[in-house]
Amino acid sequence: MLTVQDLTYRIGDRILLDHASFSIPSGARVGLVGRNGAGKSTLFGLIRGDLVPEGGEIGMPRQARIGSVAQEAPGGPETLIEVVLAADTERTALMAAAETAEGFERAEIETRLNDIGAYSAPARAASILHGLGFDAEAQNRPCSSFSGGWRMRVALAAVLFSEPDLLLLDEPTNYLDLEGTLWLYDYLARYPHTLVVISHDRELLDNAVDHILHLDRGKLSVYRGGYTSFARQLAERRELNAKMQAKQEAERKHLQAFVDRFRAKASKAKQAQSRLKRLAKLEPIVPLTAEDALSFNLPNPEAPLAPPLITLDRVDAGYGDRKILQRLSLTILPDDRIALLGSNGNGKSTFCKLVAGRLPPLAGEIRHPGKLEVAYFAQHQLDELDPSESAYQHVAARMQGAPVARARARAAAMGFPGSKADTVVSSLSGGEKARLLMGLTAFGGPHLLILDEPTNHLDIDSRAALIDAINSYEGAVILVSHDRFLIEACADRLWLVGNGTVKPFEGDLEEYRRLVLAGALDEEVRPAKKGGDTGSRQDERRAAAERRVALAPIRKRIETVEARLLRLTEIIAKIDAALADGAAFQQDPEKALDLSHKRAEAAAALHRLEEEWLTLSSELESADG
Ligand SMILES: Nc1ncnc2c1ncn2[C@@H]1O[C@H](COP(=O)(O)OP(=O)(O)OP(=O)(O)O)[C@@H](O)[C@H]1O
Ligand SMILES: [Mg+2]
Repeated sequence: MLTVQDLTYRIGDRILLDHASFSIPSGARVGLVGRNGAGKSTLFGLIRGDLVPEGGEIGMPRQARIGSVAQEAPGGPETLIEVVLAADTERTALMAAAETAEGFERAEIETRLNDIGAYSAPARAASILHGLGFDAEAQNRPCSSFSGGWRMRVALAAVLFSEPDLLLLDEPTNYLDLEGTLWLYDYLARYPHTLVVISHDRELLDNAVDHILHLDRGKLSVYRGGYTSFARQLAERRELNAKMQAKQEAERKHLQAFVDRFRAKASKAKQAQSRLKRLAKLEPIVPLTAEDALSFNLPNPEAPLAPPLITLDRVDAGYGDRKILQRLSLTILPDDRIALLGSNGNGKSTFCKLVAGRLPPLAGEIRHPGKLEVAYFAQHQLDELDPSESAYQHVAARMQGAPVARARARAAAMGFPGSKADTVVSSLSGGEKARLLMGLTAFGGPHLLILDEPTNHLDIDSRAALIDAINSYEGAVILVSHDRFLIEACADRLWLVGNGTVKPFEGDLEEYRRLVLAGALDEEVRPAKKGGDTGSRQDERRAAAERRVALAPIRKRIETVEARLLRLTEIIAKIDAALADGAAFQQDPEKALDLSHKRAEAAAALHRLEEEWLTLSSELESADG
């Protein structure tokens, strides 16, 4: 279906594609993976013909229709369903022709319309829109009445509906919520033509595709199977490569020793000569080892504050006359880890803006210490980066008067070492922009970090690095994410945003997922089990928190570490229980592998925390005398 040969493309002195070749069969569903900035979106540009390669060929069957999500979201007076239906241009043209055609010609058109399923098209379009979160009423509203993010979903619906022969999707889950994401996995897994999807989402890569295309240092390789199987094959390859490298190194040393030792002796000179030649011929084996993942830098608050950090007292929030959230009575503590659940449009962003102080309450009161610093990270703020300035310039602007070297070091710590810091924002890849924004948002060591979909655009290793960073950050965190693993690894409390309010959700994430899939979320959400965040429990929490703050900071850190130890132990126990189920293992070996991978990640984090706990405890002991 798609054959790429010797493709070469460079930007400045960086080679993104280096004589890359691969081919994918018709009907394959391919996940395109690679580090942030590897050149995945660039490859799409080349396939679409928007960019011209320096060398090489891209081959496709004649007349193959390529489809991708339009850059410009539709925004006119047409209704959503009209926009989606219009995406099938053949059907639209035939329908128009059928209006005026007569006799034989008309019959022919009718046959073709039947062949392409034109009459079931509206139902199909409606089901796609529904899957992406638009109910029947919304489908008949004009595009112009939706915000940019929602219009991107319409653009996605349109391209899915038109069913191109080669569907190119660049991180489609970035503008979806959990429900839309679950629907999309399922839709893509059954896509009837060839699909290439760029994604950093392991669930998608394990459940919706049957091939992985890996872009790594300019080369492209195709692997059969999903992400887990790809990761295993890659690990095997790396191991083999390391062995070969070691073997070659031994051979080189051996030859060199021979040459050195015998060069002097005339009788052996000839042999030494031939060995010298062999030495010169030994092709170096490129190490296939994983590059070090860039870590995240989330500075801790400089002066911690006494609890509670923020108190919401019967607060209403919304815009003008429109109340989105009502009667919010909640407390946020200085080391809270709260994940917000609830579908898009329920008011998660409104809540974040309210807590961040960007939206004044319509009623009620929000109390917090005067020195409170809140940092708010959200994808749409990518627009707040100046497209014509570099990462270094953004950092330097926040460090007025600091020496250049310090600003450079800070940029490097944020993931922009050396000349990478001089690329202007408009040229950065999606993941690079997100990383820069994250670094700038948390720049001054806030007391509360609000993260709205922080993993969007981040590659898989960066996601793991972000989890580490959040877990070692000492301030409070409020998290919105459709990345389940992130929530499980970082959050202590779940708050459900729905039915016009925000309430603690006492179940776990698995319970929440069951509710989502059962469509039970529109109903009155179960009230928190006894002991929710109300009345005496709240008083208790507050008293306990005040006691805590009176203790030495070291004791506080120990508590945090212990809580995290407990959570990780629980996660590991859950994974172990799942792995112990032999039947499931046989049915779905990939899933089992994925689980063991996650287990290893969790175990490594556990180990680090245990070390920290040991150090802290002995420090505390010696301090106590
Ligand atoms: N004009 C430019 N000058 C310098 N570097 C550039 C320019 N344009 C693009 N780049 C770099 O090219 C690289 C490839 O970008 P691309 O958008 O293809 O990456 P990607 O693989 O899609 O990454 P992501 O996973 O983050 O979306 C990035 O490192 C980007 O910074
Ligand atoms: Mg990209």
